[in-house]
Parts: sequence; structure tokens; C-alpha cells
Amino acid sequence: MAPADPPQPRFVVEFGKDGTPPAEAGRLDAPAFHRNHDAIWQALAPHLAAARGNVLELGSGTGQHTVAYAALTPALTWHPSDLQESHLASIEAWRAHTGLANVAPPQRIDLTDPGWNWTPGGLLTAMLCINVLHISPWCVSQNLIAGAGRLLDRAGRLFVYGPFKRDGAHTAPSNAEFDASLRARNPDWGVRDTRDLATLAAANGLTLADVVPMPANNFILVIARDGRTSTTLN
Ligand SMILES: C[S@@+](CC[C@H](N)C(=O)[O-])C[C@H]1O[C@@H](n2cnc3c(N)ncnc32)[C@H](O)[C@@H]1O
Repeated sequence: MAPADPPQPRFVVEFGKDGTPPAEAGRLDAPAFHRNHDAIWQALAPHLAAARGNVLELGSGTGQHTVAYAALTPALTWHPSDLQESHLASIEAWRAHTGLANVAPPQRIDLTDPGWNWTPGGLLTAMLCINVLHISPWCVSQNLIAGAGRLLDRAGRLFVYGPFKRDGAHTAPSNAEFDASLRARNPDWGVRDTRDLATLAAANGLTLADVVPMPANNFILVIARDGRTSTTLN
């Protein structure tokens, strides 16, 4: 009988250490990527499939989402980022492996820095942040949305994927348990509330334009400068 797969951790802080071990050439693998990337793309596609310009991903982790979506959007240039050196190395390994011309080298961005910026800078068509806000302090949510207020172009969108409370309430018992387990690991972490994120968006000249239900009690928040939900960018 084949040995059973080891249990997957409910959340991963550093891939390769508390998740699946590093693969060939330093390409790390996030098990959640295989479960969520297609559903996330279905939500992004109406906005990004025909868009042009620059997309900045924050907290890119292994780099798998960036290369998967870059392969589908040749008119966009994707800029992955993270703060962990091991993740930056994995992103670069995925970039080299895929050979995609529209993926820039990974850059270190720490969202706890209120003055964070990207290189080379300038206005962005879109920003993407997947499964970061619950596993980081509240200032990361504040600084992400403030950054969107500074950096998104006129029709730009910030897409944020993860588990969220809706108007103060968990949307499933499993999310409430997940929230408790996160807070037990670190009191500064936790499942964020769409109402608080909408308030942050408004304070930065943005609108929480859409909340898209996703599988496994997750959502994609579409935060827009102009409040429109589904118009193709640029
Ligand atoms: C659960 S992982 C998700 C990674 C990837 N987005 C994915 O979905 O596979 C959370 C990521 O957030 C990054 N992260 C945590 N705190 C951060 C911060 N202050 N600034 C930028 N990235 C951060 C971690 O290094 C990690 O790559």
C-alpha cells in the first residue's frame, strides 16, 4: 500500500520550511495554488485578459500565480514581490523555468513599510494580493490599500483573495476556526472584515467595487479607483 500523503498545514508562512519541501532548481510549490489558481483566474479574466500595462503582485510566495497568469496575458508585464529571501529565489526560479518575457525579476517589498514603493515605479494597471492579509498584521492591509491609492492608474484595480468576514460575521464555521487558529499563532493575524477594508478603500480614494464569492469560503475583493466592476482595463 502506498504511504498516505502527509497532512497539509492549514497555513504556510514560509514555503519549503512548513509546507512542501523545495523542488528542483529552487522552485517551491504551494499546494493551495493547485486548488485556487483556476478559480482566481476566472474572476480576474474579465478585467485582465485583454488589458495592457503593469501588474504588481504583493506577497507572491512561490511565484506560481504570477507565472500562470503572465502566460495568459502577454500584453501585461507582471512584477512579483515578497519579503522572504527564499520566496524571492523561488519566484526567480519559476521565472527562469517558464522563460516568460513578461515577468520582471522579483523585488523585495515589505508591506509593513508605510512608504513602500515598487521598482521602477509609476502607475499600475492592477495589483494582486493572494492569501496575505490574514497572515500579517493589520498594518499590512492598511499599507496595501494606501499603496493602491497611490499607485493604481485611473481605471486600475486591486484584487485581494482570501478568507474574509462579511460585515462583521464569518461566512462559515471553518473560517471562524481558521481565524482562531491564526490568532493563536499570532495575535496580530486574523481573518479581515470586508467592511473594514471598504473603509480603508474609501479613505484612500478607492471603492470596494465587488466581492466575488470563491470556492472554499474565500472571496476576491475588487478595489477600484473608479468603482466600475468588470470593464476591461486600459
Ligand atoms: C500564505 S503565503 C501566500 C503566498 C502566495 N500569494 C500564494 O497564494 O501562494 C503569504 C505570503 O505573504 C508574504 N508576506 C507576509 N508578510 C508580508 C509583508 N509584510 N510584506 C510582503 N509580503 C508578506 C509571505 O512571505 C508569503 O509569501
